[in-house]
Amino acid sequence: MQNPKIEKLVAPLFADEKNHDHLVDLLLATQGRVQSSKLSKLFSPIVSSLAGQPGEDSNKLYQVGLILKAGQLSSHALDSIAKNKDAATINAALPILMLNPKKNMKALETLAKDGSLPTTTRLETIAAFLRADPKAGFPILASWLPGLEKDVQQAAVDRLSLSTHGARALLRLLADKVLTAEDFTYLSATRLSATAKKSPVARELMNHWTKEKKQQDTLQIKKVDHLTEIAKKLEGNVETGQALFQMCLACHAVGDQGYSIAPALDGSASRETHALLTALLRPDVAVEGGYGLTRVTRKDGTMVEGYLYSSNPTGVTIATQGNVQTFIPRNDVQAESSVPGKSFMPSLLDSLPEQNVIDLINYIQTLE
Ligand code: HEC
Repeated sequence: MQNPKIEKLVAPLFADEKNHDHLVDLLLATQGRVQSSKLSKLFSPIVSSLAGQPGEDSNKLYQVGLILKAGQLSSHALDSIAKNKDAATINAALPILMLNPKKNMKALETLAKDGSLPTTTRLETIAAFLRADPKAGFPILASWLPGLEKDVQQAAVDRLSLSTHGARALLRLLADKVLTAEDFTYLSATRLSATAKKSPVARELMNHWTKEKKQQDTLQIKKVDHLTEIAKKLEGNVETGQALFQMCLACHAVGDQGYSIAPALDGSASRETHALLTALLRPDVAVEGGYGLTRVTRKDGTMVEGYLYSSNPTGVTIATQGNVQTFIPRNDVQAESSVPGKSFMPSLLDSLPEQNVIDLINYIQTLE
């Protein structure tokens, strides 16, 4: 695309309206992996014409707008919020407004202060405004967060920790004793600590959760031993095990089923019960090279976590369950790191009754 000859060749393609749908689908399918300023320029008229169409698909329009960083869609996003203040509209429009936070500051502030919004939407508007204006965003957060029910608050803390601005605000609330270490998790603690490496408050939080994690692991070791004993006596139901195994296929492959963002589980018939239980209950201990949880921090402060699918000069691709991929162009990458002591595999069995764990293990041991 940097080659003027090629540009000349493709320009008529972009000019022909018949190709527009196809070009947009192509851009979405590649998530803009072949981005360049020239390409954005070529797409610009298409974006404008999409925006005016009757029966326009605004979800698609915004997805394209985000890839191309089409700040011109701000007024479109503001219009749709003015017409319809439901959660779906706001959640779709917010990232577009955030392409140009300075210009949309007033609107972002109004949304962040809007007490009539459902909790999860309010969380998104506050998180966005915090990024746009950390100083003005903080008091809004500080007056909203403590009033939430404990489990909702915990989910909010987790969500907010996924951006450097959110992490800094949480750190302040922790220092002010509005929050305590218990309101975090090991994972959210690592986000605060990565954001503010030198902060003593972050260090103390990280120490707390490192100790806590060790204790949890000691309990898991006991649980693995205990379940190994039980498995000797208890007959598992292979059919129930197979049904439970469907959630594992979101990452693992068996034959031609499932996804390949974790080791294939074919041939597991030969695996010992104790080793299987260890892999399932203590994934963080067995974390193998390449399968650790990876965190990418964008220059705008937002973080993406998951399996490092690829990293090259064009950008980084992070995959999550079901091989849902997020591409972050190299230009947007602030930092790329592996999360210490965390596998990409979550410990899924904590909440499962013992009988079901045995069902699952017995099913896995049928995989040739
Ligand atoms: C979010 C993705 C993900 C899900 C969901 C998942 N796993 Fe894993 N699993 C992994 C990764 C990644 C590894 C590689 C080991 C590591 O580094 O922790 C792994 C390792 C394993 C291993 C050890 C494999 C080996 O070759 O050492 C077993 C067994 C396993 N998983 C079973 C399961 C089962 C059973 C389920 C469903 C209850 C499941 N996994 C769900 C990602 C996942």
